[in-house]
Amino acid sequence: MYLEKLTFMRLLDKSSPEFLYQQIIDFVEKQEQSGALRAGDKLPSLRKLSRQFEISVPTVKQAYIELERQGTISARPQSGYYLKAKQARTLKPMRAKWSCCEPAEVSCRSLIEQVYDAVHLPDSVALGISNPVNAHPPDKALARLMRSVLSKNAEKAVSYGPVNGDPKLRLNLAFRYQEQGVAINHDDIIITSGAQEALSIALQCVAQRGDIIAVESPCYFGLIELIETLGMKVLEVYTCTEDGVCVEDLEKVISKHPVKACLFSTAISNPLGSMMTDEQRQQMVTLLEKHDIPLIEDEVYSDIYFSEKRPLPAQLYSEKGLVITCSSFSKTAAPGYRVGWLLPGKFEEAAKRIKRAQSCSTSMLPQWTLTDYIMSGEYDRHLHVLRKTLRYNCERMRALIAEHFPSEVCISKPQGGSVLWVRCRSHVDTSHFFSTAIEQGVSFAPGQIFSPTGKYKNFMRISYGVQWNAGVEQAIATLGRLVSDYPVPVSKI
Ligand SMILES: Cc1ncc(COP(=O)(O)O)c(C=O)c1O
Repeated sequence: MYLEKLTFMRLLDKSSPEFLYQQIIDFVEKQEQSGALRAGDKLPSLRKLSRQFEISVPTVKQAYIELERQGTISARPQSGYYLKAKQARTLKPMRAKWSCCEPAEVSCRSLIEQVYDAVHLPDSVALGISNPVNAHPPDKALARLMRSVLSKNAEKAVSYGPVNGDPKLRLNLAFRYQEQGVAINHDDIIITSGAQEALSIALQCVAQRGDIIAVESPCYFGLIELIETLGMKVLEVYTCTEDGVCVEDLEKVISKHPVKACLFSTAISNPLGSMMTDEQRQQMVTLLEKHDIPLIEDEVYSDIYFSEKRPLPAQLYSEKGLVITCSSFSKTAAPGYRVGWLLPGKFEEAAKRIKRAQSCSTSMLPQWTLTDYIMSGEYDRHLHVLRKTLRYNCERMRALIAEHFPSEVCISKPQGGSVLWVRCRSHVDTSHFFSTAIEQGVSFAPGQIFSPTGKYKNFMRISYGVQWNAGVEQAIATLGRLVSDYPVPVSKI
């Protein structure tokens, strides 16, 4: 302890004409250069540093304020000071050269399959699948609650449940929506097998084979595949990296194409992490309802926001019942439980019939476990920590990519969720080194699979929903090397 203190004190020269606060600044910068402090790391508190250097708290504070002004560190309320990701180039919102494409069918199924398969490879760092819960898994609490549920309800837990799902879970979900102003009754909610089943039911309620479904572009590949599997066509709508779909663009799109429904994640999209403002969301619902076009709202990431407050559900603004909300516990608690839900709006009858025909009911044991999890208050406490952890991971991952990838690479700055959208130089086709990356122990999602028309070949999606360790840092270094080593065509040299 004493030695440590001496070492610290030797780093300051109190007889030097240089101001003490400037010496603290130099100290932080040296720590950063040597790698002892990495972007995203928390700096010692004002009090701790003042004790270690035997100087006053205001002197350390002056240094931190200056470092903050220079953009080296940032203050987080009630948390402290953190080293910022200095070099990360942010993917800027650009005015689109296009607002939408022609309706299309999906082309890259085998690549999608490989991305899913890669998640289960042993000894591999899986950065290709978005699993935010990985960053802060609530597995122990859920296992305890599940044991308690089983001990009370072993017989019923293995039986068929109500088609609509557990009434108590529906009550709790209704209550959560009511808190956001949505007038919803628990009878209006249908529990599904994950959001994917909710989305499938929603699509079948509003459209048929051959119909056109508008989606954000880039769009989560699972949705593109789902639409195609139902025999419908995908219409890509340009989506701003920060603000989501632009309502004026959407107006042009629906005047040009006979869009049967829109499937959007207006709160937090995947892969962009973009977020429409509540006002834009309301304008979108008004526009679509004016044209009698249903909006399927994919809300799976809405509870993992980095802003002060949760984005409001589009459901809140619906006057004609044309908004169908789909969500799940997959991104917040337990993807393996496969528990999601559907707010079917005016399509209730059809939705219940399709759910009954499709899967009869959703497994009761995970539903009861999640109900107890919510009612104990643990779920909300968990969400609070999960959001904080993901926000921290996001900054760290941006910094790590900036450190290891070529400097021209631009990285999204998501408003929530668990993925980064990374743009490489235009000649790079990220699918070309997908297999090599897997051989070298890391997987990612190549950009190509986020568009049915192969628009995003030079992009990649990287997940920060991870337990941070040296393996993650090495995995990013590997990806950075693969991007840096990508051959440059003669015309671009
Ligand atoms: C945008 C989006 N929607 C829906 C889903 C499917 O969610 P679930 O696992 O609950 O079926 C995912 C899963 O990755 C997703 O990213």
